[in-house]
Amino acid sequence: MAEKSFKYVIVGGGVSAGYAAREFAKQGVKSGELAIISKEAVAPYERPALSKAYLFPEGTARLPGFHVCVGSGGERLLPEWYTEKGISLILNTEIVKADLASKTLISAAGETFKYQILIVATGSTVIRLTDFGVEGADAKNIFYLREIDDANKLVEAIKAKKNGKALIVGGGYIGLELSAALRMNNIDVCMVYPEPWCMPRLFTAGIASFYESYYANKGIDIIKGTVAVGFGKNENGEVVDVKLKDGRVIEADIVVVGVGGRPLTTLVKSQVEEEKGGIKTDAFFKTSSPDVYAVGDVATFPLKLFNELRRVEHVDHARKSAEQAVKAIFASEQGTSIEEYDYLPYFYSRAFDLSWQFYGDNVGETVLFGDNNPTSATHKFGTYWIKDGKVVGVFLESGTPEENKAIAKLARVQPLVDNLDRLAAEGLAFAANI
Ligand code: FDA
Ligand code: NAD
Repeated sequence: MAEKSFKYVIVGGGVSAGYAAREFAKQGVKSGELAIISKEAVAPYERPALSKAYLFPEGTARLPGFHVCVGSGGERLLPEWYTEKGISLILNTEIVKADLASKTLISAAGETFKYQILIVATGSTVIRLTDFGVEGADAKNIFYLREIDDANKLVEAIKAKKNGKALIVGGGYIGLELSAALRMNNIDVCMVYPEPWCMPRLFTAGIASFYESYYANKGIDIIKGTVAVGFGKNENGEVVDVKLKDGRVIEADIVVVGVGGRPLTTLVKSQVEEEKGGIKTDAFFKTSSPDVYAVGDVATFPLKLFNELRRVEHVDHARKSAEQAVKAIFASEQGTSIEEYDYLPYFYSRAFDLSWQFYGDNVGETVLFGDNNPTSATHKFGTYWIKDGKVVGVFLESGTPEENKAIAKLARVQPLVDNLDRLAAEGLAFAANI
């Protein structure tokens, strides 16, 4: 099979790849120099849409509506855009081997690709219940959500099981967003997760209690402190019920599992330095291997603000890390330099008519402020995290754009606070005055 050769190759065609492509074009990449190789069948798109408007019964999002870079207010990069720029978009192509020493990539179909500079942008994959050998976890209508193909299967099941029953395994991002989306489709939803409250990676008990009550008021059953240990199937191999560790059996004709992700670093394993489960990079997303960069979910990079190495599995960082790596590549070719990556962690989620944002770090003491009554009309509330006398993180539900800007600024400035009671009383006004 013929060998193809490019100056720059991005492996992976997700969020980072799309934002990297835009930056390559801005930096003046020449026609024929760049290839994006993706196992997906479509051009890079804004992955967050898959767990939100893609599943809505009304106002449904479909491609080409959410190709990158619309998610951050930019123009959509349609497949034609790549053609116009002379960027090769090599789709339906999984790279199964990367030999960094000879700068060679091999696809599942046996094609060979050569590069001078490689950007690894393979993102994450889902953790599956079959990975822990949960009985019956291979039944039909048990879904995971990572790529558009997964979302399409789920959309089909929602149609086929109209007014049916769904069990959602996991109380993290996928669990909370998918429970809401299925409920909006008039499906009976039950959530199961092992922790004492939802989204324990980020939420305090105080934050979680608002969302749990809000979800309960929408008719969602929540079962905490246990896990799914087995699935019953019918004669067609379709799931019919879920056995929980605490002995309960819950009927379900759709199951969605969101029990976490795993960065896809296998291609370069043992060829680059790794750290905290990801590929270790510097502040320019350069790995320990010459001419190899890693961006997005797979990168473990220096988070300057907190002076430690971190891996971040969120879209804002995927976009910004990709842009940083491409700027660094061009700067290094031109013998110039750019500023180190100085990232302020930013996470968000939307479900029902709720919308929250978080900036900074969720460590230290916490102060809950505002109106967290789940039945109130405004439900504008938040939480500050305070470490070593400084506010290091802020969470806000239902903030206006100005208020969200104010909490972002606050998390960046990290102001000193001496009186937590006063901070609680001041609430959002404290952020507005920074
Ligand atoms: P991404 O996963 O976007 O892309 C990786 C690409 O590489 C995929 O196209 C994959 O097929 C391809 N690939 C992998 N291995 C390959 C191989 N060997 N050969 C070829 N191609 C390969 N974040 C947030 O901040 N807010 C939000 O609301 C959401 N919502 C959300 C919903 C859903 C359903 C998911 C799954 C994730 C989110 N996220 C999110 C997280 C966010 O989407 C995620 O952090 C970014 O997409 C990461 O971007 P990457 O480019 O690193 O990976
Ligand atoms: P997650 O880590 O957010 O949540 C996983 C949840 O499953 C946790 O509550 C965990 O304790 C629970 N869990 C673990 N094992 C379990 C078991 N055996 N049974 C039941 N529950 C179990 O991961 P996720 O929600 O699966 O999301 C996957 C990826 O997608 C992450 O990278 C996430 O950042 C990303 N994502 C982000 C957003 C967003 O930022 N708004 C939205 C969707 C997905």
